[in-house]
Amino acid sequence: MFYEPGKTPHGLPHDPFKSCVVPRPIGWISTVSREGVHNLAPFSQFQNLTFDPPYVMFASNQNTSGRRKDTVNNTEQTGEFVWNMATYALREAVNKSAEEVPSDVDEFDVAGVSKASSRIVKPCRVAESPVHFECAYHQTIRLPGNGTMGTVDIVFGRVIAIHIADDYLTADGHIDILKARPIARLGYFDYTSVESIFSMKIPGNDPRRLAGMEGSARF
Ligand SMILES: Cc1cc2nc3c(=O)[nH]c(=O)nc-3n(C[C@H](O)[C@H](O)[C@H](O)COP(=O)(O)O)c2cc1C
Repeated sequence: MFYEPGKTPHGLPHDPFKSCVVPRPIGWISTVSREGVHNLAPFSQFQNLTFDPPYVMFASNQNTSGRRKDTVNNTEQTGEFVWNMATYALREAVNKSAEEVPSDVDEFDVAGVSKASSRIVKPCRVAESPVHFECAYHQTIRLPGNGTMGTVDIVFGRVIAIHIADDYLTADGHIDILKARPIARLGYFDYTSVESIFSMKIPGNDPRRLAGMEGSARF
């Protein structure tokens, strides 16, 4: 099949686009408003962008009333957000935190998770999550879109502090991803979680390229 988005119909019962870009890691983002209300929401339009220094982004469409989401307002107003790893064990809480609730509602309570203070930023961490990034707001880029929710605010942040629960580190110093079992979005209402790992190295022995794969730019 072939179609041009927005120009020619795909002819399928559901739009296939989001099911092509999979699996999408989840940015489970906590923020706090200027008034001190704690907010929590998942964003599967999320990625790391680079690693030295580390930057991440999440892309937030407008809400069902066509307004900027609380996560974006809070991040821009306070200059801070926290990324929490969304795991299989926490999947129901992740889902509950996606409910559209008024801005004055504490979404840690809605999701039924506990708060852990961050070390540097004001937004709290999800205590039950094994990995967190404390982030400093960098910039927002807005892409125009169709319909009430189409316009998207892409929020960039620099990771200024990283927490990894000690019991999620293996003896050889890797994050125990199979233990954490992060979840990720597929298309439609579907998800996956990390249940297997395979390893490969780029052919050749260029130590700079291998260092880059491992996440070190300062070779
Ligand atoms: C797994 C999952 C992924 C989501 N990803 C996105 C996303 O990438 N962008 C977006 O705008 N909304 C996304 N949503 C919906 C938001 O989480 C939802 O609109 C939430 O209420 C926003 O909260 P806030 O208004 O407190 O910021 C997602 C929901 C779920 C359950």
